[in-house]
Amino acid sequence: MDTEALIRQARTILDTNWNGQFTKPAPSLYPHQWNWDAGFIALGNAYHSMTRAMDELRHLFRGQWQNGMLPQIVFGDDPQARYFPGPDFWQAHRSPHAPAGVATSGISMPPVHGFVLWEMYQIAEDKTVARAFLKEMYPKVLALHRYLYQHRDPEGEGLVYIRHPWEGGTDNSPIWDAALARIDIAQLDIPPYERKDLQNPKAAEHRPTQQDYDRYVYLVDLFRQRDYDDERIYADCPFLIQDPLFNGVLSWSNEALIKIGSLIGEDIAEPMQWHELTIWSMNEKLWDEEWGIYNAYDLRAQEIIPVETSSGFMPLCGEVPDQEQAEAMLRTLESAAFGGRPEETWLCPTYSLLAEDVNFQKYWRGPVWINLNWLLYRGLLRYDMEEMAERVKQHSLQLLDAHGFFEYFDPRRTAAGEGGCGTDTFSWSAALCLDFLLRESLA
Ligand code: GLC
Repeated sequence: MDTEALIRQARTILDTNWNGQFTKPAPSLYPHQWNWDAGFIALGNAYHSMTRAMDELRHLFRGQWQNGMLPQIVFGDDPQARYFPGPDFWQAHRSPHAPAGVATSGISMPPVHGFVLWEMYQIAEDKTVARAFLKEMYPKVLALHRYLYQHRDPEGEGLVYIRHPWEGGTDNSPIWDAALARIDIAQLDIPPYERKDLQNPKAAEHRPTQQDYDRYVYLVDLFRQRDYDDERIYADCPFLIQDPLFNGVLSWSNEALIKIGSLIGEDIAEPMQWHELTIWSMNEKLWDEEWGIYNAYDLRAQEIIPVETSSGFMPLCGEVPDQEQAEAMLRTLESAAFGGRPEETWLCPTYSLLAEDVNFQKYWRGPVWINLNWLLYRGLLRYDMEEMAERVKQHSLQLLDAHGFFEYFDPRRTAAGEGGCGTDTFSWSAALCLDFLLRESLA
């Protein structure tokens, strides 16, 4: 593998997708700024342009709502960049908290920004500038976490719920199936809409179904009808899920806020309290002793969602499990469900290979995604599981090298020419490739 060439290609993709204000996740499919994409992208850019990395996050946080909510999409001002659902559909201005003069969606995404800021600080050569940036951003990220704990954790459990699959970042994960199935679209008025995500001929097969989309749209309509008021939405939203990926990422970012706060002389009592409670509750409520993995919990149905996805490994990155739990997770990762036959399988499939409805090329229902591999890699390193961490990293790099910087990948090694799926020149695949290859050189 020519790692120098990979680094060059990754940088070119990030440069090409930069539009002067933010980096598009992909040039045509995703023409605006997405929340967690911006975090991963800033991390990758930090290696060659710290200024751009900082501007990326500044642009994202311009869309932050006054109640702290950080939207999943901050829309750019290019009239050609048509996307559904666009600002007209979201109608974010119905909320008194939406920012003036910036068009955004009305839901959030996994809060990666705390740990991204801490990583950027580690990468920065000029620590004075980097420290000033931490000072600038800390209150904004703190406000985001405070929003999550005050408005998305109504019982004060320390577990934050999401209310739309797009908030989870794993749009059509099988985790959401049962909750979505309870939304009976035949009985509902779904507002008219036109999808914009089916341009490429293979797309219809690989992307969420029409029925999924109807339900996504139904939920957005429900939010806007309630003027994005958290309490009104909580009262009757059919989709309220505590997700291990979201809460695992939140833990890592809580920890980062504690470190950043200490460094810049802030009172860190609040993030410390969040951090302890979230870890405790994840272990109490979401840990599955039998499977050796974390589950999601459906707050509406009041039950665990017993679906084996790689989201259940993500709490490793926030050091949520203890060593013994982490070792059980490692065994699950090596098992036939995720490791498959090692000579035939790329790590890490997003859905158990043993599930009857696993689909190797369909979005979040089986394929390997580079961001989840990267979170898993960082998580494994925290438990000194270096051999497995290295395998996850090498598989990620080999996929990128063999197929290009695709959005996601078929986990079967036999998929050869067909292995890269979704859009190509995908920004976070490029950004995290840079972190995989350049992080160690800092040590
Ligand atoms: C898709 C992904 C989501 C990502 C977005 C932009 O919707 O599921 O995680 O943020 O694309 O790349």
